[in-house]
Amino acid sequence: MNRSPFLYVANWKMQLSFNEAFAFYQENKERFESLATVEEHQIVLCPSFEVLHPIMYAGKESSLLFGAQDCSAHDVGAYTGQVSAASLAQIGCSYCIVGHSEYRARFVDSDADIAGKVLRLLTYGVTPIICVGEAWQEYEKGLVKEVIDRQISTAFQITQQHGTSGNVCIAYEPIWAIGTGKVPSVGHIESVFEQISETLGAAGPGIEASLLYGGSVSGENVGALKQISGLEGFLIGSASLDFQKFEKIVTWDK
Ligand code: PGA
Repeated sequence: MNRSPFLYVANWKMQLSFNEAFAFYQENKERFESLATVEEHQIVLCPSFEVLHPIMYAGKESSLLFGAQDCSAHDVGAYTGQVSAASLAQIGCSYCIVGHSEYRARFVDSDADIAGKVLRLLTYGVTPIICVGEAWQEYEKGLVKEVIDRQISTAFQITQQHGTSGNVCIAYEPIWAIGTGKVPSVGHIESVFEQISETLGAAGPGIEASLLYGGSVSGENVGALKQISGLEGFLIGSASLDFQKFEKIVTWDK
C-alpha cells in the first residue's frame, strides 16, 4: 500500500504580528525549506491570513506547503471580514484548518458552519483539516464518543447531500491537551481514531481522511506519539513557533 507522506502542520495561530511572522520565516527560510525536501513527509505552514500570501510567495520555489487557519462557510457575498475558499485556492493554498476549538469557542462556529466550510474547501480543491475533540469535562464524563460522533457527522452533512467526494484531514485535538503540556494515552488516541473512521464510513461516503493528532506535541513526547497506529500527521501549535523545537519533532527518528 502506498502511504501518503506524514504531515507536520504548523499552526502559528495569531502568535506573531505580520512583521514578526515574516521575519521568523525569513530567518529560518533555508532550514524550513530543507526540512521540506524529504519525500516521506510534508511540512505545512499555517500563518495568519495577512502574512500567508507574502510567505507563500517567498517560499514558492520550495517544497513547503501552506495552509490558512480558517475560511468562510459561504461561497461569495456580503460577509464582512471573511475569506473565501475560492481566494485561498487562487493564492495556491493547499490546506485550511476548520473547526479549531479556539475558533469554535470564540467565534461561535457551529457544526453547521463547519460543514459549509468543508464543502467550500473541497469544491475549490483546498484540503480541509477538520479539528475535533472534547473538553476535559466531557472526557471525564466518558462523553468522548458522543462528541466526536456529532462533530464528524455534522461536518459532512452538506457534502453528503451534494455527493461531494475528496480528501480531508481530521485532527483529533482534545481541548484539554491544547497548550497545556498534557497528552492523552496512545491507547485513547487509537480508540478515537477507530471511531472517527467508523463514523466517517457512514457520514462521508466518497471522503478519504488522513488522521492527525494535535495538542501539546513536542520534541519530548513525539517518540511516544509516533507509536499511534493509523497516525498520519501532527497539528503543532506552540512548538511550531520555535524552529529548533519544530525541527526536533520533524526529525526525531532521523
Ligand atoms: P499546541 O496547539 O501544540 O500549542 O497544544 C495545538 C493546536 O492548537 O493546534
